[in-house]
Amino acid sequence: MKIIDLRSDTVTLPTPAMRKAMYEAELGDDVMGEDPTVNRLEALAAEKVGKEAALYVPSGTMGNLVCILSHCQRGDEVILGDQAHTFIFEVGAASVLGGLQVHTVPNEPNGMLVPQNVIDAIRGENVHFPPTALVCLENTHNKCGGWALTLEQMDSVCLPVKERGIPVHLDGARIFNAAVALEVDVKELTRNVDSVMFCLSKGLCAPVGSMVAGSEEFIRRARKNRKMVGGGMRQAGVLAAAGIVALTEMVDRLVDDHSNARVLADGLEGMEGLRREQHGVRTNMVFFTLVTDRMTPPEFRSALEEEGVKVGYYGKGVFRAVTHHGIEQEDIHLALGAFRRVMQERA
Ligand SMILES: Cc1ncc(COP(=O)(O)O)c(C=O)c1O
Repeated sequence: MKIIDLRSDTVTLPTPAMRKAMYEAELGDDVMGEDPTVNRLEALAAEKVGKEAALYVPSGTMGNLVCILSHCQRGDEVILGDQAHTFIFEVGAASVLGGLQVHTVPNEPNGMLVPQNVIDAIRGENVHFPPTALVCLENTHNKCGGWALTLEQMDSVCLPVKERGIPVHLDGARIFNAAVALEVDVKELTRNVDSVMFCLSKGLCAPVGSMVAGSEEFIRRARKNRKMVGGGMRQAGVLAAAGIVALTEMVDRLVDDHSNARVLADGLEGMEGLRREQHGVRTNMVFFTLVTDRMTPPEFRSALEEEGVKVGYYGKGVFRAVTHHGIEQEDIHLALGAFRRVMQERA
């Protein structure tokens, strides 16, 4: 039985072209700046997102941390959404390792922050207050249904924040999904942020790695902070080679993941015992809630697994299914069959 693993796009495996590029990669010591493949990847990534420079980091979590550390001093405050990945899923690193205070404002259901709430959260000059040093956005927004924010939506937050002299960091783990869904060049979405982190190892299928990008001066600081948190890798070109393939060959096909997610969402609509979350489906994520008392969420999840389908659990009956490379449209129909059997037999 083929396992249809919809837990995350992080389960994607490197493609044959990636494995070949990894095998053939020219290598050197990247901490000394001498890995030609890493240097190529960094130049390519900077060019793709329209920034002066970029830096290869082992993970999205480290990328966000390194950017936050590079924008802030200990004792500063960072404003971010209360559903932000950085707030919920990154082990409190900004506070623990950066000595920073996190100030959350509520995310709207589509992942937006209400601009006025962000402006109101910015601290004025007062002996009692920590200074506001950074605002973070996320696009696509993971916990808010993989919604893609438009340039206008992002600008409605970015521009007033920057007018107040505060930089904006974008957690763009899936920024290429956003660009493909909105049919814009990714540079449009990154134009007005000061730094961006994006992942190579999710929908783009590289086995490891994320990029951070910004001004040359910012990336110099980020490189030092990456070293400080142990992210200086040596012959990292063996991994970066897959990242180059990710950026050159794997972006356009994300459109297939998005259309598969819509097929999945439409198929789940109206299935008894399940409620589709009303995020709408813009990219590769479908959220739904189990609304029956005939089985518990863990029972539902194991029944589905026995049928060969894996989904992610977000608590309180909410599940997430993510489409990605290796999941074809026929797999979505097979998965829907499994959902139907589980719901008919148990619900
Ligand atoms: C929006 C977002 N940001 C950051 C990350 C962290 O990436 P990593 O798992 O590579 O640390 C993730 C991971 O799923 C994510 O969804």
